Amino acid sequence: MTHRILILGGTTEARQLAGKLAVRASVTLSLAGRTETPIAQGVPVRSGGFGGAEGLAAYLRETSTDLLIDATHPYAARISANAAQAARLTSVPILALLRPGWEPVEGDRWTLVDTTGDAVRALGPAPRRVFLALGRQEVAAFEAAPRHHYLIRSVDPVEPQLAVPDATYLLARGPFRELDERALLQEQRIEVVVSKNSGGAATYGKIAAARALGIEVIMVRRPALPEVPSAETVDELAAMVDHFVEPAAERGV
Ligand SMILES: NC(=O)c1ccc[n+]([C@@H]2O[C@H](COP(=O)([O-])OP(=O)(O)OC[C@H]3O[C@@H](n4cnc5c(N)ncnc54)[C@H](OP(=O)(O)O)[C@@H]3O)[C@@H](O)[C@H]2O)c1
Repeated sequence: MTHRILILGGTTEARQLAGKLAVRASVTLSLAGRTETPIAQGVPVRSGGFGGAEGLAAYLRETSTDLLIDATHPYAARISANAAQAARLTSVPILALLRPGWEPVEGDRWTLVDTTGDAVRALGPAPRRVFLALGRQEVAAFEAAPRHHYLIRSVDPVEPQLAVPDATYLLARGPFRELDERALLQEQRIEVVVSKNSGGAATYGKIAAARALGIEVIMVRRPALPEVPSAETVDELAAMVDHFVEPAAERGV
């Protein structure tokens, strides 16, 4: 019997994992459908929300899914909660792939906040030149502080643009190298970077660059996520899936 695996994706790791598992199981990758030009994933893809935990549970039943893998971004808390709930409702086993967050090191000047709203307040009363390395869903909060200059980098255009007098937009998709990030921060005379703690190497360049230049980073902490068995790397998770797949194969099912 071929195992059916549903991977909730939207991250580089989800794509890598899908490719790895596709040789031994029937894998479908699920995307939220928000990025206008998603990169090719190499396995069958479905796109768009399920309609909450109940909707996802119905999908798991309809497709006879044997294993659910939550490989979404650490800040995508809603879908992760839904996934854990749908797994409970259907008794489909769930595993999560969660890359470790960055830890501050010597020389970092991090201000830790819980939400983007708190990040806006942490910018303070005096006008500053701010680099927003956040998703387009989050930058809207910064309209509350129109006195700052914003450099806004996103994968898709921020539309509508922010209702602030002074913003520059940059379209780019990572990975971003530290040297390039350093050049960007210097050219744009950035005084503070606002970032999520995404973890991983692809977007760490700006953090390392800020450290090298002595620039403050306002770091939005990760949201609380459900407790499910998890791995930190693609290889580690693939090994967990092997344990899941192998017993059935040994039984000759
Ligand atoms: N938030 C970030 O910083 C970030 C960064 C990079 C990539 N991403 C990726 O972008 C996607 C959306 O993030 P988000 O912050 O909007 O998440 P979210 O707030 O947790 O999810 C909101 C809703 O979007 C739908 N959804 C999210 N991920 C989905 C998926 N993989 N497949 C199908 N439906 C999905 C679900 O709708 P229903 O309730 O209708 O099912 C979910 O309730 C995720 O796949 C995530 O991995 C997010």
